Amino acid sequence: MSAEIPDRNLALELVRVTEAAATFAARFTGRGDKIAADQAAVDAMRLMLDTVSMRGVVVIGEGEKDEAPMLFNGEEVGDGTGPEVDVAVDPLEGTRLTALGMPNAIAVIAVAERGTMFFPGAALYMDKIAIGPEAADAIDVDATPTENLERIAEVKSCAVNDLTVVVLERDRHDDLIAELREAGARVNLIRDGDVAPAIAAAQTGTGVDLLMGIGGTPEGVISAAAIKCLGGAMQGKLWPRNDDERQRLVAAGFDIDRVLTADDLVQGEDIYVAATGVTNGALLRGVRVVGDRVETESIVMRSRSGTFRRIVASHSLTKIQSLMKGAR
Ligand code: FBP
Repeated sequence: MSAEIPDRNLALELVRVTEAAATFAARFTGRGDKIAADQAAVDAMRLMLDTVSMRGVVVIGEGEKDEAPMLFNGEEVGDGTGPEVDVAVDPLEGTRLTALGMPNAIAVIAVAERGTMFFPGAALYMDKIAIGPEAADAIDVDATPTENLERIAEVKSCAVNDLTVVVLERDRHDDLIAELREAGARVNLIRDGDVAPAIAAAQTGTGVDLLMGIGGTPEGVISAAAIKCLGGAMQGKLWPRNDDERQRLVAAGFDIDRVLTADDLVQGEDIYVAATGVTNGALLRGVRVVGDRVETESIVMRSRSGTFRRIVASHSLTKIQSLMKGAR
């Protein structure tokens, strides 16, 4: 189809999927049960996915078939019409955040042309760096944190002290955090959920300049999809936790020294991403119940047009609950 002619924007269908996942996961906010919250999100997402006009295969899902009853890797999703696509889902990104009633949990889905998403396989973790368009050329995952900060500050014409870097609060990041602080950056530590800050880093006005550190590879692929829509940059390197894992990854054909860019993680050029807030966060407001209405806030984006939309929806609680009776 000619690039001049507007065509269907799948992201506008996908947002119903993340709205449903977020709405049902949010019922478990602060209830201390991350499994139940995740299951509610998966069930709702699964049901809605069947309405989307696509022939999708889950490339990044809830795990292998035997471990995950729903949305397993390789599962076919969609209504069986429309484009053949790869699908990456994180029905609840921030299961613990939701269970503990903490900010920044989201439901998220990304779709790209069939065969274009990086399959993480046994590569569970990745060392990541993500930033917005302005300083896209300044990042280098192989450079030191200090070097990255100095280059970014130069491009942004600001001081390192003005840069806010989001980092997962993990023991493995002790040295990273110490160096970032030593260099003068503002370090924003998060308990979980590095997709939302990667998306926030790619946008202006969010207060997040940069995401750094080791997090999930599946989350890295989803972040890369969003960054390709928004125009920033991301780099990652697979991060085996020990020698045994390193050897297994090499044996499986992964090049663990390779720097993976957003284009390597999602090679497609027609990418759609939708995300809905579960709990309140810098990127999205969480689900709110007001009387018989449930309000959700979502973002939807598409790489080909570069369109980014923020969608606030008000759903009837009674109707959505009866619709979802089909969910397990
Ligand atoms: P949940 O599985 O609880 O949703 O956590 C997701 C997450 O925090 C990701 O955002 C992040 O990439 C990854 O887990 C970090 O893994 P780990 O908690 O093992 O350090």
